[in-house]
Amino acid sequence: MPAAGSGERMGGVRKPFLELAGEPVLLRALRPFLDDPRVVGVVVALSADQAATPPDWLRALGPRVVVAPGGATRSQSVRAAIAALPAELDVIAVHDAARPLVTSEVVASCIDLALEGFGAVAGCPAVDTLKRVGTDGAVIETPDRASLWHAQTPQAFPAHVLRSAYADTTEEGTDDAALIERAASGTVILMVDAGPFNLKVTRPLDVTLAEAILRSREAREDG
Ligand code: CTP
Ligand code: MG
Repeated sequence: MPAAGSGERMGGVRKPFLELAGEPVLLRALRPFLDDPRVVGVVVALSADQAATPPDWLRALGPRVVVAPGGATRSQSVRAAIAALPAELDVIAVHDAARPLVTSEVVASCIDLALEGFGAVAGCPAVDTLKRVGTDGAVIETPDRASLWHAQTPQAFPAHVLRSAYADTTEEGTDDAALIERAASGTVILMVDAGPFNLKVTRPLDVTLAEAILRSREAREDG
């Protein structure tokens, strides 16, 4: 779970430690994984200072949660987290600490598919038409929206597939599945529809949106 970013678009806030309706974003992102009995461990990549002195609530989650120092980019943080995992694993899932609204159902579906040998990527179909645009601002083309999805996390893979994708490249990116697409490993990657509410807390508006989504989920659970 990469959690070592500096949250520049949030105004320099460490988003994993931001409280959302009374609980840190990182704790909300972790819980659906810890609730799945198949998850033997989670490595949280934190900035070097936070990895040296993790908060008490993180340590209190028990021995399944391990902390590792992340890197200067998301790719480097994922790489560091993978290196700190146990050797014998069937599946590795990568999940952004900044996605606190992920559900247990989506986590379970991604793990199920990876256990069957697929790559699994949470996401949702695009609702807006998307344009490919040049650096000069001019439209190059309009890809068919019907074939376009937003990619989110979690992304789960057979462990050896993700390990070799990271071993074979020093490429940087924001999407783990993209490494496997390019590696031409023959792994079929399937999208798991997680809906539009599995948002990444990126800008201040996302905090307001995420809290509203949490409130409406809680209201439904009560009712
Ligand atoms: N991340 C990380 N290490 C980095 C950069 C990002 O572990 N060097 C993590 C973030 O903590 C986050 C996830 O990758 O959980 C997705 O990144 P993003 O939403 O871009 O977070 P930040 O990089 O912190 O935000 P910004 O890009 O606005 O600075
Ligand atoms: Mg970033």
